[in-house]
Amino acid sequence: METPTKYSAARVAALVWCAVLAPLFIYSVPSLTQTTDEVEKRIASLPPDQRAYERFRYWVTQLSPDQRRDPNLPARYRDYLKTRGFSDGEADAQIKLVQAQGSRAEVERWNRVLTAEKPTFNVKPNEFLVEVARGRKPGTALDVGMGQGRNTIWLAQQGWDVTGFDPAEKAVALAQETGRKLGVHFKSEVKGMEEFDFGERRWDMIVLSYVGGRDMTAVFERALKPGGVLVIEAFHRDATKGRSIGGGVVFDTGELPKLYPQLRVVRYEEPVATADFGQEKVRLVRYCGERPE
Ligand SMILES: C[S@@+](CC[C@H](N)C(=O)[O-])C[C@H]1O[C@@H](n2cnc3c(N)ncnc32)[C@H](O)[C@@H]1O
Repeated sequence: METPTKYSAARVAALVWCAVLAPLFIYSVPSLTQTTDEVEKRIASLPPDQRAYERFRYWVTQLSPDQRRDPNLPARYRDYLKTRGFSDGEADAQIKLVQAQGSRAEVERWNRVLTAEKPTFNVKPNEFLVEVARGRKPGTALDVGMGQGRNTIWLAQQGWDVTGFDPAEKAVALAQETGRKLGVHFKSEVKGMEEFDFGERRWDMIVLSYVGGRDMTAVFERALKPGGVLVIEAFHRDATKGRSIGGGVVFDTGELPKLYPQLRVVRYEEPVATADFGQEKVRLVRYCGERPE
């Protein structure tokens, strides 16, 4: 049987990548902090094929970004599973399953969350984006990780020439269906940001609304037209106290302006406000940076 130490760095990296991009399922439950036992109870209520991945996701999103890059991650996860009472065989089987499901499990998870009959997130456009866009002349906009299209559709309604993309194909299909019903046109692709061609000097606005991308800052900077803006809303580190939120959407005090040295800060705030995902009052980060002419 394959042992955890034999897992290739690439496969571990893939696991880490998909797990850090997004917040944990606490978003689908409007409750506050959950203990590990409560989380286990919730996992037990899920269909069997979702349990191993949700348990892994719960665990990994509590690690720091550095801990997530540790090549011994599977071995550490195995230790965790054993502290939860799983046998060696059960732990190995779970790790194998998570690896087999890979990033597909993450995509399926977002498909479920974003197309749920009763949405657990704000289906209106992001308020910060609305404020920023209202003061600007519509041009080309890119919605990275567009989800079910709430921001894409609003921008298109305001006259922007919008492209959105997301690996969650059911969410993208829902966005297009909603667009058709509303008579709103936009382009969309089913892709992750790792494979999307951002181009150079192409966009008047790039939107990162509760999505990751901290390793792609130079790509975003290059893809903006001179005078174009990058608009980000995500979580402040304070929001992680007592909550499991994926590291990709969490930023420290003053971090975002430093991550984009080529952009001029138009707005930067760290307010306590109701998050679009999770819908709790937490500290957020809101950033708008403009590429100089
Ligand atoms: C919290 S949702 C935000 C959705 C949307 N931006 C919004 O504000 O409504 C996170 C989104 O990131 C997407 N995502 C996950 N991995 C991604 C990747 N590698 N590249 C782009 N988007 C990704 C998910 O499918 C999901 O739609």
